[in-house]
Amino acid sequence: MGLQLCFWVGVFLFSSSLNAIFCDQEGFLSLSCGGATNFVDSLNITWVSDSEYIGNGNTTTVDCIESMPSLPSGFPVRFFPDSEGRHCYRLPLKNAPSSPVLVRIQFVYKNYDGRGKPPAFSVSISTAMATKIDLKESDPWVEEFIWPINKEILPVCFQSLPDGGYPVVSSIEVRPLPLGAYSSGIDGYRNKLLRKRYRINCGYTNGSLRYPSDPHDRLWDADEDFGPSHLSAAFMAQFSFNLSSIMESPPMSLLQTARILARKSLLTYDLPLDKLGDYYIVLYFAGFLLESPTFNVLINGNVVRSNYTVNCREESVIYFTQVATSRLNISFETVSFCPQINAIEVYELVDIPAETSSTTVSALQIVQQFTGLNLGWQDDPCFPTPWTHIECEGSLVTSLELSDINLRSISPTIGDLMDLKTLDLHNTSLYGEIENLGGLLHLQKLNLSFNNLSSIGSDLAYLTSLQVLDLQHNSLQGLVPESLGDLKDLHLLNLENNKLQGPLPQSLNRDSLLVRTSGNLCLSFSATTCYNGSSNPYIEPPQFTIFSRRKHTARKHIAIMIVATAGGIFVIVLISILVFLYIRRKGKELSHTARTKIEMRNWNGSAKVFSYREIKSATNCFKQKIGHGSFGSVYIGKLSDGKMVAVKVRFDKTQLGADSFINEVRLLSKIRHQNLVSFEGFCHESKQQILVYEYLPGGSLADNLYGSGSKNCTLSWIRRLKIAVDAAKGLDYLHNGSEPRIIHRDVKCSNILLDAEMNAKVCDFGLSKQVTRADATHITTVVKGTAGYIDPEYYSTQQLTEKSDVYSFGVVLLELICGREPLTRSGTPDTFNLVLWAKPYLQAGVFEVVDVSIQGTFNVESMRKTAFSASRCVERDASLRPTIAEVLRDLKEAYSIQLSYLEATGGGY
Ligand SMILES: *[C@@H]1O[C@H](CO)[C@@H](O)[C@H](O)[C@H]1NC(C)=O
Ligand SMILES: *[C@@H]1O[C@H](CO)[C@@H](O)[C@H](O)[C@H]1NC(C)=O
Ligand SMILES: *[C@@H]1O[C@H](CO)[C@@H](O)[C@H](O)[C@H]1NC(C)=O
Ligand SMILES: *[C@@H]1O[C@H](CO)[C@@H](O)[C@H](O)[C@H]1NC(C)=O
Ligand SMILES: *[C@@H]1O[C@H](CO)[C@@H](O)[C@H](O)[C@H]1NC(C)=O
Ligand SMILES: *[C@@H]1O[C@H](CO)[C@@H](O)[C@H](O)[C@H]1NC(C)=O
Ligand SMILES: *[C@@H]1O[C@H](CO)[C@@H](O)[C@H](O)[C@H]1NC(C)=O
Ligand SMILES: *[C@@H]1O[C@H](CO)[C@@H](O)[C@H](O)[C@H]1NC(C)=O
Repeated sequence: MGLQLCFWVGVFLFSSSLNAIFCDQEGFLSLSCGGATNFVDSLNITWVSDSEYIGNGNTTTVDCIESMPSLPSGFPVRFFPDSEGRHCYRLPLKNAPSSPVLVRIQFVYKNYDGRGKPPAFSVSISTAMATKIDLKESDPWVEEFIWPINKEILPVCFQSLPDGGYPVVSSIEVRPLPLGAYSSGIDGYRNKLLRKRYRINCGYTNGSLRYPSDPHDRLWDADEDFGPSHLSAAFMAQFSFNLSSIMESPPMSLLQTARILARKSLLTYDLPLDKLGDYYIVLYFAGFLLESPTFNVLINGNVVRSNYTVNCREESVIYFTQVATSRLNISFETVSFCPQINAIEVYELVDIPAETSSTTVSALQIVQQFTGLNLGWQDDPCFPTPWTHIECEGSLVTSLELSDINLRSISPTIGDLMDLKTLDLHNTSLYGEIENLGGLLHLQKLNLSFNNLSSIGSDLAYLTSLQVLDLQHNSLQGLVPESLGDLKDLHLLNLENNKLQGPLPQSLNRDSLLVRTSGNLCLSFSATTCYNGSSNPYIEPPQFTIFSRRKHTARKHIAIMIVATAGGIFVIVLISILVFLYIRRKGKELSHTARTKIEMRNWNGSAKVFSYREIKSATNCFKQKIGHGSFGSVYIGKLSDGKMVAVKVRFDKTQLGADSFINEVRLLSKIRHQNLVSFEGFCHESKQQILVYEYLPGGSLADNLYGSGSKNCTLSWIRRLKIAVDAAKGLDYLHNGSEPRIIHRDVKCSNILLDAEMNAKVCDFGLSKQVTRADATHITTVVKGTAGYIDPEYYSTQQLTEKSDVYSFGVVLLELICGREPLTRSGTPDTFNLVLWAKPYLQAGVFEVVDVSIQGTFNVESMRKTAFSASRCVERDASLRPTIAEVLRDLKEAYSIQLSYLEATGGGY
């Protein structure tokens, strides 16, 4: 043959240094699916039972004859007799950040069930639809994938195909690969899963090569005759190559064999494929001929590399991506001397769709809890197949449909599903006000029909993309708000069968909009047709609720009679109704004031009673507004004795009944603590409900952390700790010091205020609940609170306990640590939700997530204590959360550690 090997004798170069980098079996995970015991196989690889990594499926054993040689025969398998849904293994990846992993899965049927029907099913890895398995074609069946992205937990899932039978799996192996391997030459590499098609140890025919020759345990198949050309010969080199120059770090023995064409012609590998797709090809060369061959590389007839030279003692790799259908023809065409090839890998490139944002996922998980049903919602909502009840566009959840279940209220997290275009909650027992939807700016279709909703609320006006709004068959009362007219795209508004009344806003009277109104008390664009029974055929006797329900039966009959005569008389009716309403309103007002007066005279609480006039003069006619919220507005004021106060004026719609208001005032005036904003008094006059609190000039914690001033002057860690300690003291008093116990229900940064000396005080018990019975462990109530702070367990159970405040306080602590708000839409989806993002880092003692503006200024132990406490507070399971008293103790310790640290280092306060 006239070939001379380049005898570069001896020195086995760098093989040892490489092995030192990769420790033996480090990061290997070998699951024996369905196996009950652990064992070590003939390659000294330890196999473990899979039961820790999967929650369902049945196990059995297969009397297997041929299989992977390293597995003992007669081994167990796991199958999934439920043909619905995905069955997922959750594999913990211990690879270094951003290094890829190899996942090898073996499927064996071998008629374990005696039915003689090999199953067909799909395999997905995380969001990628990896492949379909049909054990009719081959049994056993081995698949190898390379997962490119670091991920803590990798879901590997199986799902039945229609009439495909039960998925069955016998082993799963995870092997870490070197950092940067299999990434060269792939555009958008991080979005591609590699599915192995070929991995050929060229020139080697004596069986496959794997661990321990390949420390990464890839299976390198023996060279077969892949093409018509037989004109090649195998060679084996006698020395080593510099493996560290190749990212994939192929095993040394792989490079020591090659297929070399002995005549000047064409060396070809003809590799059949099963489908059209993008393929990733890796070619390995290692020169051990004295003369360096030069050749062209052709793929499917196209020259992809010309005049490629392999020099003696040098190793190299080339990468290609190629679209191909039924085969890959990889050829090496002589230019000078004899072409050679040492190893070939071919992978199918499978898209990995982007994951749905974690905010969306956690919002949906909470919705699932809210339904009280197991909807089987796991992993990613959109990929590989969308969850039940939802639809996606890409990785955005654009439709949610939950009907004929018992939802009771619109879960606040539905408002976090900001990409929704369709929301259908018909027949879900919703009651009360339409709320929590204000953020759904892309919503086009909203169906809330067949519920018991009683108030339209104000959120709908924000849904600027709304086209179809179906509110039929509810108990909506009152007038249709003018603001609905601002929804310019609205073309169907169904208000049928409610208890709405009065003229419809003229802004809804346009050609492009169809408004359905039948079955209401009195609903029409013109006030005059309102009482013309014929226009609203389903009208019940209409005037029931306009007249008083109890006393005026005689009048009601008269009214009905008048209506029945219809025609011109309605004018008279209208006038008489107006007169009547006026008298009634007047009477009510009088009685209201009278009753309030009596109550006030008997008022013996400690809080001061202010007259409306005093309030007006203190606030200089409500001149300076310092805040507003769902409850109403807050104004700054100065009492006659010079004391500054914050005056909170309730909106009409948030007003309580007089009795509830008095009860609340009684409660507030009993709460006195240095870390709670003190209640100065109230005014309950001419239908006003006004609460007067001490004024704190330092603003809220939210202002201090995120407001405009925060840029110039960041809160130091010690100040943050002091604020946390103060707030915890306040909450501790509510939970444990006051009688009755009080649950705040709306703990958040904007409800922690600072006085001039930066002492923190908790404010706004507007939503708070008293636990009157000393032995009560919880109270059941409709979920209220602020998005981002609400305890997920409270959502699902609607049972409120002190631990819900602890959760919200945990979120505040995370904000203090990380210096960011609980929910954001900036950054990557992983970071949207503060709790989901920060908790794993903090639990692990990794402080990269700590606010950059305090990095380097804190004592690590102090931070560790706080971080640990915060992550326990936001445990999903309320029973794992500490009490506020325990949190307070931890924070005090963290505070004193930081204090002595500052004293020792002379750091500033
Ligand atoms: C098998 O592996 C164990 C550690 O996993 C090691 O201590 C032992 O030496 C290995 N045995 C062989 C024969 O390689
Ligand atoms: C799977 O296991 C469940 C519970 O162990 C059992 O009820 C069911 O019959 C099993 N299914 C099959 C097909 O073996
Ligand atoms: C093939 O491999 C086996 C062990 O796997 C070995 O005993 C045998 O000698 C090898 N044959 C050749 C031709 O290298
Ligand atoms: C081996 O390869 C690495 C990486 O390309 C290179 O830095 C090193 O110099 C090489 N060693 C030798 C002896 O060529
Ligand atoms: C593979 O490609 C080479 C060069 O283009 C060609 O000569 C050969 O016939 C092809 N083989 C097959 C099986 O298509
Ligand atoms: C390859 O090499 C040959 C001869 O050495 C030369 O004629 C040819 O132009 C080269 N091709 C390219 C694309 O460089
Ligand atoms: C509403 O859902 C219940 C089941 O929760 C069902 O029985 C009822 O028929 C549904 N009503 C309508 C109008 O769809
Ligand atoms: C809303 O849901 C109800 C009940 O399924 C249905 O009858 C109605 O057509 C839906 N509305 C729209 C606009 O699709």
